[in-house]
Amino acid sequence: MRALTILSIFCLIAAYNCQSHDLALGQATYGDVVIYKVNEYKYGFPLMVRKSDIEYPEAGQTNFAYIRAIFIKDNVRDGTGGYPTVSAGGVGQRFVKIKLKSQRGYGFNFTVTIYGRY
Ligand SMILES: *[C@@H]1O[C@H](CO)[C@@H](O)[C@H](O)[C@H]1NC(C)=O
Repeated sequence: MRALTILSIFCLIAAYNCQSHDLALGQATYGDVVIYKVNEYKYGFPLMVRKSDIEYPEAGQTNFAYIRAIFIKDNVRDGTGGYPTVSAGGVGQRFVKIKLKSQRGYGFNFTVTIYGRY
């Protein structure tokens, strides 16, 4: 019984680690357009956590579209990629700040797509 529990916990961890860390917020429907798309990657260095901040609109620019959906695709399929989070703004607003953070010793490779409506 105990072995089975340990085994299933191990399987859960393994499954969790073997997936990419996509983040999908909101829903894009007919009439929404891609207002921003970027591929952001950083190589891993031993013992280091790599970070990136993405801001939309970029500093000094103005965005008139309301954000309808944010898709952050983890291009690292074996689970060693980073983790995305939204730190400010987002769906329903006109700006967003996204933080990308790698696992220690690894890099990341994300494609960020933002859909909006004018
Ligand atoms: C990041 O992922 C994209 C999409 O899979 C790929 O085209 C690109 O070459 C990757 N970049 C790096 C530096 O691995």
